[in-house]
Amino acid sequence: MKRRSFMRVVGGGVIVASTAGSLGLSGCSMGMPSEAIQAWNGPGPDASPAGDVRRWLLSYALLAPHSHNLQSWLVDLRTPHEITLRCDLTRLLPQTDPLFRQIMMSHGTFLELLDLAAKEQGLRADITLFPEGAFGPQELDTRPVARIRLSPDSGLPKDPLFAAILQRHTNRNGYDLARPLPPKAWSAMADAANFPKMQFGYVSDQQADAMNKHREVAKEAWRIELTTPRTIEESMKLLRVGGSEIAQHRDGISLTDPMVIVLDRLGLFDRSHAPAPDAYATTSQLKAFNEKLDSTPAFLWINTEGNDRVTQVNAGRAYARVQLAATVQGVSMQPLSQALQEYAEQRQPYADIHQMVGAAGQGHTVQMWARVGYGAPVAPAPRRPLSALIQA
Ligand SMILES: Cc1cc2nc3c(=O)[nH]c(=O)nc-3n(C[C@H](O)[C@H](O)[C@H](O)COP(=O)(O)O)c2cc1C
Repeated sequence: MKRRSFMRVVGGGVIVASTAGSLGLSGCSMGMPSEAIQAWNGPGPDASPAGDVRRWLLSYALLAPHSHNLQSWLVDLRTPHEITLRCDLTRLLPQTDPLFRQIMMSHGTFLELLDLAAKEQGLRADITLFPEGAFGPQELDTRPVARIRLSPDSGLPKDPLFAAILQRHTNRNGYDLARPLPPKAWSAMADAANFPKMQFGYVSDQQADAMNKHREVAKEAWRIELTTPRTIEESMKLLRVGGSEIAQHRDGISLTDPMVIVLDRLGLFDRSHAPAPDAYATTSQLKAFNEKLDSTPAFLWINTEGNDRVTQVNAGRAYARVQLAATVQGVSMQPLSQALQEYAEQRQPYADIHQMVGAAGQGHTVQMWARVGYGAPVAPAPRRPLSALIQA
């Protein structure tokens, strides 16, 4: 009995820490192997612009945000001056992203950073989305997501957002509730999201009732994800505990807390089963996440008319630009994807957020919803080496 209850508490502690990596709570950089975050130093000697410039561009593109840090990007470089982007079908989230919408957005973020890097090199990137046809609403396959043709264009202006690529990080810390965002930060983000058929919106402390509704829906959506075994187990499979696992995978959710690592090595951290809804493991995570939401001074969203594959990719491009614009302003953000996810248990939060941001009445789709504010700096998330993305 004693041993069982010890393990339950231990398990709780572990799970509390587990969310630090990507699911809503803060992280720490201890134990992060330097090679796993080397990409954040910029292109290495094997990606010099004097060589194959595509490698230089890709060294920036792979710093894009991706749901669960899955990095599902594969590139084919066989045709000179061209990059073909495909989806790695082994890197999907079928439980929480059953329609692969977030995967498509995460290809949009990659394309946006690639485009910014191309401009920096005086190259025009002509991006053709789905050159062999777009995926249906419920499927992905090996056809290209995009074909990018590069050509010199000395008249092309550089984009100031490029400079923020190496500084941008998803920030899961608490934010300063007493520090509202200035109007210029909002207008920089709104300008960055200026894509056709796309709306950018936000709510801040000026609208206390609306803020409370946002917090409540985010809390409920997170509770559902945490207490639905198949959805939380999907995330648990992506935990990378300690330096050696992080160095081996360089993706997913990094856990570097020394206590977690010790417990894991002692075999006291069962990653194969979801904790019960009333377990300390679950309730303590909910409490911590709710505190983060209570300390959030603003929320933003990106809505689209239509929800086809091209629109989803473009929403990802817009999100990347919004986060880079925020980074320039010193503003942090963390996406809140749970309520936007298309699995049955999220039906009510999905309907609520669509209602709250004015998307429901118009048949629009909320592609991104994020908490926004000023948070303490965070450590960079791992990235796989460029060679891991190059298919051929
Ligand atoms: C489409 C999409 C959805 C995301 N959803 C969440 C989310 O629900 N919660 C979260 O903490 N981060 C979310 N993220 C952020 C990723 O977890 C993050 O980009 C990844 O871990 C890499 O970290 P980085 O952004 O600091 O480079 C999302 C990112 C994208 C592109």
